[in-house]
Amino acid sequence: MPKPEDGLNGIGENLFILRGERLRGRHSGEHPDNLGADLLVAPASTAEAAAVVAWCGANAVPVVPQGGLTGLVGGSVSRPGDAILSSERLNRIERIDAAARLAVVESGVTLQALQEAAAPFGLTPGIDLASRGSATIGGMISTNAGGILAFRNGVMRHQVLGLEAVLPDGTVFSDMTEVVKTSAGPDMKQLLIGAEGAFGFVTRAVLRLEPVRPHRATALLCVPDAGSALRIVDGLLRCPGAQLEAAELMWRRFFLDSARTHGFDLGWLEGDAAAVLLVDLSAETVERATAELEASLETLWSDAGITSGIVAQSLDQARRFRDLREVSDFIYRLHPDAPSFDVSLPQGALDRYVAALDARLAALGLEAYVYGHIADGNLHVSVFGEGAPDAAMRDPIEDAVYAGIGETGGSFSAEHGVGLEKRRAYLAQGNAARRAMAQALKRTLDPKGIFNRGKVPF
Ligand code: LAC
Ligand code: ZN
Repeated sequence: MPKPEDGLNGIGENLFILRGERLRGRHSGEHPDNLGADLLVAPASTAEAAAVVAWCGANAVPVVPQGGLTGLVGGSVSRPGDAILSSERLNRIERIDAAARLAVVESGVTLQALQEAAAPFGLTPGIDLASRGSATIGGMISTNAGGILAFRNGVMRHQVLGLEAVLPDGTVFSDMTEVVKTSAGPDMKQLLIGAEGAFGFVTRAVLRLEPVRPHRATALLCVPDAGSALRIVDGLLRCPGAQLEAAELMWRRFFLDSARTHGFDLGWLEGDAAAVLLVDLSAETVERATAELEASLETLWSDAGITSGIVAQSLDQARRFRDLREVSDFIYRLHPDAPSFDVSLPQGALDRYVAALDARLAALGLEAYVYGHIADGNLHVSVFGEGAPDAAMRDPIEDAVYAGIGETGGSFSAEHGVGLEKRRAYLAQGNAARRAMAQALKRTLDPKGIFNRGKVPF
């Protein structure tokens, strides 16, 4: 590949460029191969980003857009010969308009930075996920991230009002709309959302913000199945004086191993519950949130089949409840190579799916941790057995996890994207006409095929 001296340095006096050892000495995030490229360039403005992309185009250098490196499917993996286009210097929150409930941000702003900037105005991005400290707005747009609050506010796509991006030919796409309603022709920015960097590099966005009620009541409830958890969710969504903030279900194996590795006391747990539901309710005060939660649970207890439960008595205890679900790296400490999946199913299909999945995996001599964002039907599945999984088992495991998902109207990738790891599923599960449309767009927007090549298979 050409050396940066061949023109990249001319783009800006302070253009941030990293190469060789200095690049490899960095933390590679969630995938060990994220930093395999020869070069990382971090533009500090849209104009710099456009000039870098034009340089890459002119020199036939493949571009790998990167944000916070929290992706779980290898969508940011780079190889020798690639240039990483990092959003790390595009980290300004340009404006928070409290009255209009929106924020204008650059793409490298982390979710947590935006949450913290919006909080003094009583606002939140309306989307939340466990990797909030590192995940960037640009990365969340590029994967159409979902997370904990999707059941209420929708996914990232629904929070994006406006978008700016550098397209693969170095031109700047700009649609920084600040209004909810616009039917001014086809909404082309939707194509960039969830495109995993294949159609361009997001530089700025206008995001909706939602009012936040910071005072919470949090509980863990033992339930016999997902149907029961969903009856609780329905009851709490109808709660007059409080708002449901989270409904996260952990099936038994996940919950017990998480509790054990977190040193969490299970003295309150009675019987052999199939699953444990974490719920979080918000209101004007903690007392109000707690009173609403307790009143609702009284009604729901027998109707929903709750067998035991515990309401957090302090902020610290509530945080420990949430950590049981969010801090899930114990999975990879106990089972380093556990293949992981991220599927979603319509509510009525969840229990049948989990039972069938267990049976299919048992036939392969395997089992799984199942947990996830139950109110929108999004399940995370990590498969394990005795010892490390054999490479030959990869496809049979995938088939066991994906069986029946398409037919029910679900998705083989709910919120993590396709990246490198879900390419086989993308080709097997999607409609051929849908793939052909994506292919045609890719050819039009990126005729040289330089943006995030080898990921979503076009
Ligand atoms: C979570 C990630 C795996 O929900 O999406 O923790
Ligand atoms: Zn998730």
